[in-house]
Amino acid sequence: MSAQTRPASSQSSSKLHQFKLVLLGESAVGKSSLVIRFVKDQFDDYRESTIGAAFLTQTISLDDNTTIKFEIWDTAGQERYKSLAPMYYRNANCAVVVYDITQPASLDKAKSWIKELQRQADPNIIIALAGNKSDLVSRRAIATEDAQAYADEAGLLFFETSAKTAENIHELFTALAKKLPLEQMTASRNRNGMNQRQGGVDLTQNNNDPNGCAC
Ligand code: GTP
Ligand code: MG
Repeated sequence: MSAQTRPASSQSSSKLHQFKLVLLGESAVGKSSLVIRFVKDQFDDYRESTIGAAFLTQTISLDDNTTIKFEIWDTAGQERYKSLAPMYYRNANCAVVVYDITQPASLDKAKSWIKELQRQADPNIIIALAGNKSDLVSRRAIATEDAQAYADEAGLLFFETSAKTAENIHELFTALAKKLPLEQMTASRNRNGMNQRQGGVDLTQNNNDPNGCAC
């Protein structure tokens, strides 16, 4: 099944569901680059380290007339911001934990974020592991098979991505979108059409948020 990213305003006939997504991982692994590639289809060779967190949105249209709007919290990886992370993952429906395939320590850090999410985040959270900078072939320090084996064991989606070349960026978010519990969400939404904890927000009747960055 294929999927496309499109502005929410063009989705008036689709069912639109909103989910909260958090990005976690060591500083400089490429979290902001990955999300900016996904939202704006841009890449910068030099990007300032994130301060606190940044908020962006992007919409994915699935073939079955279902549209997923991601509300994305791109957290800061620097150690001094670590204590802020629970604020961003607490009600998250899904998480992308990022490491850099050239930096073995960044996979250890990713594993520690995944343990924390599995202990402290919503028990239904869907987690994807992203091995970023796959374009840096000659500097690879983590074998794909090792990361895949860990992801399988921990029950995670797994992709190697490149924010620079855009490899697997769309595939990563589409795979997450397809795993989100739409049926459960529709059945359990409250009278405002909202259920942020279990399965996002049905925006079928509230589709006026612009697509883009509100950092
Ligand atoms: P913090 O905000 O400090 O947590 O870092 P971050 O994880 O958001 O990393 P950021 O996106 O700022 O990227 C760090 C550096 O890596 C930047 O210079 C990017 O240009 C570079 N970078 C990010 N993704 C890729 C990639 O896929 N390939 C290559 N070659 N470089 C990348
Ligand atoms: Mg950043």
